[in-house]
This record gives sequence, structure tokens and C-alpha cells, in this order.
Amino acid sequence: MSTLLEVSGISVTFDGFRAINNLSFRIGEAELRAIIGPNGAGKTTFMDIVTGKTRPDEGRVIWGEKNVSLLKMSESQIARQGIGRKFQRPTVFEDQSVFDNLLMALKNDRGPFAVLTYRRSAEDADKVRALAEEIGLKAELPRKAGELAHGQKQWLEIGMLLAQEPRLLLVDEPAAGMSPAEREHTTALLVEAAKTRAVVVVEHDMEFVRRLGCKVTVFHEGSVLAEGSLDHVTANKDVIDVYLGR
Ligand SMILES: Nc1ncnc2c1ncn2[C@@H]1O[C@H](COP(=O)(O)OP(=O)(O)OP(=O)(O)O)[C@@H](O)[C@H]1O
Ligand SMILES: [Mg+2]
Repeated sequence: MSTLLEVSGISVTFDGFRAINNLSFRIGEAELRAIIGPNGAGKTTFMDIVTGKTRPDEGRVIWGEKNVSLLKMSESQIARQGIGRKFQRPTVFEDQSVFDNLLMALKNDRGPFAVLTYRRSAEDADKVRALAEEIGLKAELPRKAGELAHGQKQWLEIGMLLAQEPRLLLVDEPAAGMSPAEREHTTALLVEAAKTRAVVVVEHDMEFVRRLGCKVTVFHEGSVLAEGSLDHVTANKDVIDVYLGR
């Protein structure tokens, strides 16, 4: 599998505290990866670095087949490279319908040949319906986003990110506050999304991680402590000591 993102030897210090410590990480195209680890291990900070929100003091962040450095890019330039991020609080437009939320999120630069507006809008409507199907909100398309249940709002936001056609999707604790049924649906959605793009999921819920059925990277004190299948990492003594045996 060819590498999509390669992070090597990054470190970040906040007020003398090393939140990320010589961390290296790589993910391939169309790969699903879970990141686990104790509170304060640096999982969110890692995502902040990839998206350009936080700059590392050292190390490299290399993207795509052209091996471009993300470190010189602004947050919006990085987003335009095809890196989407889901935050914990959904940022949907509550007064707009689910349909309109997805429509607004569509990537709409189809160049000089997209001159036939009516045709483009028909295409867009098809895309919106396909996205709604993918996130399980087809029946909710006419509803106002503000009326959706917590889990449904999260899925809508994932749908809005998918509408941007990212090559890498970063998702931080998607299952927080969800019911067991919502969690299951979220897992299925992320597994599906990762068939055509890379998806990195930070999550504390081990059942959730097990259902993802993917390679797991364990962070601890700003570094990678272990990596491999969930069974492999959960059998690791260091992982048990610092995370599972809490
Ligand atoms: N902007 C910041 N300024 C100062 N310290 C920070 C900043 N961002 C993160 N930290 C510290 O860096 C460490 C790593 O935090 P981070 O949020 O990345 O952990 P995490 O693995 O996401 O934890 P959790 O599982 O609780 O979400 C923590 O000790 C945190 O307090
Ligand atoms: Mg975090």
C-alpha cells in the first residue's frame, strides 16, 4: 500500500511540557487506523499538527505521492490538499435541512465545463442523496439539522466532510455521547468511508475499536508505544500497564 501521510520524528513542547515526543506515524491510501492511548497521550495534538493548527518544533510531515511537506502550509492549504477533520462538537447548520447542509458542503469546482447550471444542480442533488444513503440519513433529508438526534448530527457532519472528498479523514472520539446502536452505525460508516480514503479514528471505546477491525496505534506520552492488531497491542505488557490496566 503506498504511503499517503508520513510523519517522522515530530516533537512539540507546550510551556516546557513535551506533549509530542519524537513521534512517527504513517498511513496508506484507503487505510483505516485507530489511535488509542491514555488521556494526555498526544492524540489530539497529533491531529492538530497534521491539520496545521499546531506547528511541531522538529520533525517532518510529508503528504501524497509528490512527498510535499505540510509544515509550510496554512490550515486552509492543508484542507485543500484533501485532509478533513471532524471535531467532537458537530458544526452543522441547525436551521438548514439535512439536504441543504450536504449540498453546501459539496466540493463545487468542476471547472469550465460545468457551465450548464441545471445539469450541475441535478448532479449535485444525486450526490447529496448518495451521501445521505452512505451516512444513513436518507429519510431525514428534508428535516432541519437542528431536529436531529446527537448521533445523527455527528453522521451529518461526517457526510459534510465526505462531500469534500477528502483523501484523509481525521476523526477524534466520534462515539462520545452516543448510544450503543449509534456507535455501531458510526463504526459501519467509518469502515465504509475507509474503503476509498484513509481514515484515522481516535477512540477510547474498545468495543468500538474492535468493530473497526483495523490496525491500532497506541500513543503514550507523545510517542508510539505499540502498533498492530488490537489483539496484538492489548496483549502488550507496556500497553496494559499504561492504558488498559488503569
Ligand atoms: N495548546 C496547548 N497548550 C498547552 N498544553 C497543551 C496544548 N494542547 C495540548 N496540551 C497538553 O498536551 C498534552 C497532550 O494533549 P492531547 O489533547 O493531545 O491529549 P489526548 O491524547 O488527545 O488526550 P485525551 O484522550 O484526553 O483527549 C496534554 O497534557 C495537554 O494538556
Ligand atoms: Mg484528545
